[in-house]
Amino acid sequence: MTQDARATAAKKLFIKTYGCQMNVYDSQRMAEAMGAEGYELTEDQSQADMVLLNTCHIREKAAEKLYSDLGRLKPLKAARPDLKIGVAGCVAQAEGEEIVRRMPLVDLVVGPQTYHRLPAMLRGEAPAILTEFPPEDKFDHLPERRATRRAPAAFLTVQEGCDKFCAFCVVPYTRGAEVSRPVDRILAEARDLVARGVREITLLGQNVNGWHGAGAGGEWGFGRLIRALAEIDGLDRIRYTTSHPNDMADDLIEAHRDIPQLMPYLHLPVQSGSDRILKAMNRKHTAEQYLRLIDRIRAARPDILLTSDFIVGFPGETDQDHADTLRLIEQVGFGTAFSFKYSPRPGTPAYDRPEVDGAVADARLQELQALLNRQQQAAQQSMLGRTVGVLFEKPGREPGQMVGKSDYLHSVFVEAPQARIGDLVQVRIVESAPNSLRGELVG
Ligand code: SAH
Ligand code: SF4
Ligand code: F3S
Repeated sequence: MTQDARATAAKKLFIKTYGCQMNVYDSQRMAEAMGAEGYELTEDQSQADMVLLNTCHIREKAAEKLYSDLGRLKPLKAARPDLKIGVAGCVAQAEGEEIVRRMPLVDLVVGPQTYHRLPAMLRGEAPAILTEFPPEDKFDHLPERRATRRAPAAFLTVQEGCDKFCAFCVVPYTRGAEVSRPVDRILAEARDLVARGVREITLLGQNVNGWHGAGAGGEWGFGRLIRALAEIDGLDRIRYTTSHPNDMADDLIEAHRDIPQLMPYLHLPVQSGSDRILKAMNRKHTAEQYLRLIDRIRAARPDILLTSDFIVGFPGETDQDHADTLRLIEQVGFGTAFSFKYSPRPGTPAYDRPEVDGAVADARLQELQALLNRQQQAAQQSMLGRTVGVLFEKPGREPGQMVGKSDYLHSVFVEAPQARIGDLVQVRIVESAPNSLRGELVG
């Protein structure tokens, strides 16, 4: 342990994570990097020596949360001027020093590709604002995974960034170009997680199914990577998110047919059901192509549960375009979906385009969400009487109860007083609540 590390021993770090699962993963890696400096995680912000806000820039509301949270930190910083406040993630990348100008209480600003340097920044050995895309790979400079949290399900980022440049989206600017992590690193990290008791891994990337890399026998696609992961003894479940329709290669669809560990669940954002709007969004696929893709996926894995993302009120969207989106939703039948009102983001191609009337967009969003909610309830109802695998992740609301995720990613509450976290059990679904299921142990 270095002199500096001793001086900071047992300091407390509070991290708040906004946005997507990749940020959740990054927060864990930052906690590990700070752990090597003697920082321990705390759940209590008032006890923290450092507060780190890992931010999301995807919609205006997401970005503004940072500033309201920073406002709330003012009294704490005033009472304890040695409290360090750091801003990480996609707002850090997008706004950089503007954050410090607006909120001088911020000590450090670090982007998603530079957070391996967080300890050096804190020691004053690196600039306090770091938002470049460095040539080195941050993963080569981060400490090995540590058991910061004992959980049976873990995230593993395999791909970062995006080259697709959808007209509404900040990700290509905040996360940078598409990069795939090498096969050997991914397999090593997965084996390490499994050795620490992890039974389920969700592979992460902004375009995770666009992952590719050099493996045994030549260039591997994402399906081949999943086959290699499925050979790891003790890795019972594999999931991945988020996928782009244009990167749904045959080997991945075949993996859904052939690999029992690959869970029957797919999040495949389509954004709109109107070809005119898809074109304006620069999505590079039509509604019909999406539907045919769904047919092929369902032919390979008939029980797969599909989910998606929708943007409502994209510039130029007419009632007819909206009706086309509703029709696509009817045609597919989703297990659930995320839907958002379009939010113009500075620096993106659609930013200056004339907006749809706010009230019209609100009404469309409500109509779309009502339909998606009906589909969600129908999908949950269809689970009644079925026996599914459930991996227990935590105790439930009532004594003796456990809660975990089904194969289809539903939250399932089960009366199981003898069970332990990490048990993977067979459960018969007996009841459907608005956002969860209830089941009984089988056998
Ligand atoms: N890489 C994924 C997810 C990107 S962000 C993909 O390609 O689908 C997650 C979701 O946020 C997107 O699918 C989109 O539905 C939504 N989103 C992104 N930018 C948005 C914006 N400017 N306004 C509203 N929703 C947006
Ligand atoms: Fe954003 Fe489109 Fe890239 Fe997804 S594919 S991250 S929506 S630019
Ligand atoms: Fe948000 Fe960045 Fe993820 S903008 S959705 S945190 S990649």
